[in-house]
Amino acid sequence: MQVRQTDPKEGTSLVLIKPDAMQRRLAGQIISRLEAQGLRIVAAKMLQMDKALAQHHYAIHESKPFFHDLVAFITSSPIIALVFQGKNAVEVIRQTMGETDPAKAKPGTIRADLALDIQHNLVHGSDSIETALQEIQLFFSKDEIFDCGRDAEKRIC
Ligand code: RTP
Ligand code: MG
Repeated sequence: MQVRQTDPKEGTSLVLIKPDAMQRRLAGQIISRLEAQGLRIVAAKMLQMDKALAQHHYAIHESKPFFHDLVAFITSSPIIALVFQGKNAVEVIRQTMGETDPAKAKPGTIRADLALDIQHNLVHGSDSIETALQEIQLFFSKDEIFDCGRDAEKRIC
């Protein structure tokens, strides 16, 4: 049996298609832009985040003035959570999303092209490899992730 060589730069990251993207029918376009960067979906689910999950996911912002509004927004309607895998996944996703504030994001990024304002910025992507691993565990169990290391799932790689 052929053993797949794992690229050391191959990584995974959590992406959330936020409520504004769902309401504006932009989920497909956002996922397409990420796939066009060579990233592959290895996990996906639709859910409505509850307050506890939102507070945990955005715990780093607990003391910020926008925390309450952020939790209210992210729990306001269903989202899609995905795990993307590929070379430098965290960095590639952050670059493809663009800066937090769409007014400051580079043209050609998701947020510059499509987002309305700093809160309604369509998409979340983990901000480091360490954060990505924690965030993925928050949204997915191990058997929900079809990564390339799983023999049965090598077809998707
Ligand atoms: P995300 O975590 O959602 O991927 O966004 P990010 O890394 O680009 O930005 P971050 O600093 O982590 O902020 C998390 C989310 O909080 C909302 N926000 N509002 N009103 C404000 O000044 C403000 N600043 C941030 C945004 O929805 C941002 O994505
Ligand atoms: Mg962030």
